[in-house]
Amino acid sequence: MDQLRITGGRRLDGAVPISGAKNAGLPQIAASLLSPYPLELTNLPKVSDVDNMLRIIGQYQAQVTREGQAVRIDPSAVEPGDVDYETVRKMRASILVLAPLLGRFGHAKVSLPGGCAIGARPVDMHLRVLTALGANVMIEGGYIVATAKGGLSGARIVLPGPSVGATETALMAACCASGETEILNAAREPEVCDLAACLIAMGASIEGAGTHRLLVDGQRTWRPASHHGIPDRVEAGTYAAAAVITGGRIELVNARMEHLASVFQALEAMGATIWPGDRGVVVSGPATHPGGLRPTDITTEPYPGFPTDLQAQFMAMAALADGASLFRETIFENRFMHVPELTRLGADIALNGSVAMVRGRSRLKGAPVMATDLRASVCLVLAALAAEGETIINRVYHLDRGYEQLDRKLAQCGADIERISQ
Ligand code: UD1
Repeated sequence: MDQLRITGGRRLDGAVPISGAKNAGLPQIAASLLSPYPLELTNLPKVSDVDNMLRIIGQYQAQVTREGQAVRIDPSAVEPGDVDYETVRKMRASILVLAPLLGRFGHAKVSLPGGCAIGARPVDMHLRVLTALGANVMIEGGYIVATAKGGLSGARIVLPGPSVGATETALMAACCASGETEILNAAREPEVCDLAACLIAMGASIEGAGTHRLLVDGQRTWRPASHHGIPDRVEAGTYAAAAVITGGRIELVNARMEHLASVFQALEAMGATIWPGDRGVVVSGPATHPGGLRPTDITTEPYPGFPTDLQAQFMAMAALADGASLFRETIFENRFMHVPELTRLGADIALNGSVAMVRGRSRLKGAPVMATDLRASVCLVLAALAAEGETIINRVYHLDRGYEQLDRKLAQCGADIERISQ
């Protein structure tokens, strides 16, 4: 298992190319199974979650050709058989293949997924959506078995909450159903809009993406398609935090200001300066660094609120702010796993259920720490960049799930970071 060795204290300065969004790419890879025609995705990040999703559709006999950031998927020979549990258990997003397979073939069997250990993360909403569209869904021996003998039928679906994944399942299933489907309380995340754009390119008819009400007309003619996915807003937010925590300046090449409004607002309130650049967005930390970071008060919410996927990164900054910050996590119940590890670097954090209070310190000090999930591990990287001395981060494979060449991108901006292969 690889480790990262980081010696903190360097001010980062440079430009970072923001990769395609992993969370946009994963449902689009799954969506390729819907139609018999090829789908080309031209902005997929090289991260292990994407590798894994491509492996999953490969096990269903999709033919995958990859060149750089582009992937061509030929799903003409796809069959809705079983997929090896070892592949599926690594990633919760594997549930996303259920709707396209069921929609295209009238039956599908998918293992109950695994993924980050950030809470119970049930899939009940995904299953309820499919039932609402006429499927018969059962759990048998750890597998979800879904059938819709006469095909899926359009319906009015009211989601109990704006789940990103359940909205994506509903969209893909509705595209294969006969008649119209109305999805209410839909998630509005940019990744959901990007899936809608990809499905429309494939031949679907969808209205209302980016609102809480999606309308899908099941009358469609599938066709070969090509789609260029959106940049990764979580990756962009992470490098923005790297600039701020080191008192540096980073140009986030390709980043979209409009996807990060709540994040940039919170960063500016902490003392960052943000402006549009020629190639994306430029973020710089407080001129008074070290010191000069103001505390924050963050509640995670569905988009366009503050994203749960950036909560840990902001906590690293709060650990060095001039005062006490509050974090309320409302999306996942177990998303403070970075707290004990941040404490090892000297952070002062009190946890009470879904609330964390962080009393800012003037310095953190390097130590050996353990990555526990994707966003928790990157929070440790950020803290290490600002800490005195050396930090060794173990279990780096968590980072590789969602960050393309993190060590290289940071090193390009002047970080003292080294990957130690073991
Ligand atoms: C997606 C993102 C993840 C992000 C999350 C919230 C991907 C691959 N992952 O995850 O990075 O943190 O959105 O922005 O896109 N829930 C249920 N039942 C369900 C589905 C969800 O109770 O069937 C709950 C979850 O446990 C959670 C909440 O709904 O408490 C929101 O989850 P959801 O929006 O579905 O997240 P994911 O799609 O899994």
